[in-house]
Amino acid sequence: MKILIIEDDEGIRELLRDELEEYGHKTFCVQSGKEAAAWLENHSAYLMLLDYGLPDMNGKELINELKKKTIPIPDFIVATGQGDERIAVDMMKLGARDYVIKDAHFIDMLIQAVARVNKEIENENKLKAAEKALSQMEDKLRQAHKMEAIGTITGGIAHDFNNILSIIIGNTELAMDNIPQWHPAYLNLHEIKNAGMRAADIVKQLLSFTRKTGQALKPVKIIPVIRDSIHMVKSAIALNVEMQINIFDSGQTVLANPAHINQAVMNLCINASQAMEDTGGILNIIVENIIIDTPSNNFPELQAGEYIKIIVKDTGSGINPDIMNRIFDPYFTTKEVGKGSGMGLAVVYGIVINHRGCVNVDSQSGSGACFSILLPLVK
Ligand SMILES: Nc1ncnc2c1ncn2[C@@H]1O[C@H](COP(=O)(O)OP(=O)(O)O)[C@@H](O)[C@H]1O
Ligand SMILES: [Mg+2]
Repeated sequence: MKILIIEDDEGIRELLRDELEEYGHKTFCVQSGKEAAAWLENHSAYLMLLDYGLPDMNGKELINELKKKTIPIPDFIVATGQGDERIAVDMMKLGARDYVIKDAHFIDMLIQAVARVNKEIENENKLKAAEKALSQMEDKLRQAHKMEAIGTITGGIAHDFNNILSIIIGNTELAMDNIPQWHPAYLNLHEIKNAGMRAADIVKQLLSFTRKTGQALKPVKIIPVIRDSIHMVKSAIALNVEMQINIFDSGQTVLANPAHINQAVMNLCINASQAMEDTGGILNIIVENIIIDTPSNNFPELQAGEYIKIIVKDTGSGINPDIMNRIFDPYFTTKEVGKGSGMGLAVVYGIVINHRGCVNVDSQSGSGACFSILLPLVK
């Protein structure tokens, strides 16, 4: 690791440097507080060994100077003269990880302190990473619960609506059969029937989001289905968008409804294209196989096993973190009226869950978005 040695005594400095380099550390040496501040302004170190009594300022003054200039302060260990224990306590209060007294065993003690502090920092980092993973997993589960709740509500409404629409459309058709076409009411009935059919389409979309479509899945070779989707969506992709396709074909079989898979892949491609239509860019479609072990932090909702991963990646506007938790909600859209219905991703979500898979997104605003669908493979 990178260690900054701040020490005015040349003998000690070189001894320290040689010892630490022998342990595989990379060292940088400075002799005064001023030099240390200047170095830290442009570089970063993992750890800093600070001699308290520097020629131009003491250790406390140096730390305060760094704070004042808002220069990031690395973890540090302080070396003080004999009888300066009081100072050591003060420096610990300022954030020192440890202190070492400059006596006969000074170098040995310091090397030991470096090893100890190194271990401490490593453990803290591991803990932080574990906490982050846990909080990401909680986020995902919360998201899944929310989608489940929205699904239940929408599913109920869509189901009732479907029944009502059947009555409206059916009776309109009966009425149309019973009056001559020249009758002025015939045109009105025709309009009612059209509107009813449009409403039925919306209900169908909602039902596919809530996975209550009731359609059976059957084993299908998935790669030709994906190639079909790409073929179908091509004409809808903006002209300034270049498609790059990388498909690993090992005859993968998935329990699927091919029409739904087409729909999901096309929805993702259309979103990607729309995100790039002003600037142009690259739409990358990658298909690969992955194995998920249990428990997997990235995919808490999936069982262990072999999956196919369909990645749709763009170099467009990206997604603002503020809306990340809402993009899969039905009717959530950031697009102007007429351009987006807000149902694209809701439908993708419903379809993927219905296939016992999951969909993930990775994006930062300004740097494109990457959606991946995971579907379990069958032998
Ligand atoms: N590839 C993408 N790049 C940037 N934003 C996206 C992308 N895909 C989806 N989004 C965001 O998610 C929202 C919801 O998408 P979607 O459900 O397909 O509805 P719609 O496309 O009709 O707005 C979009 O309005 C957009 O803000
Ligand atoms: Mg869309």
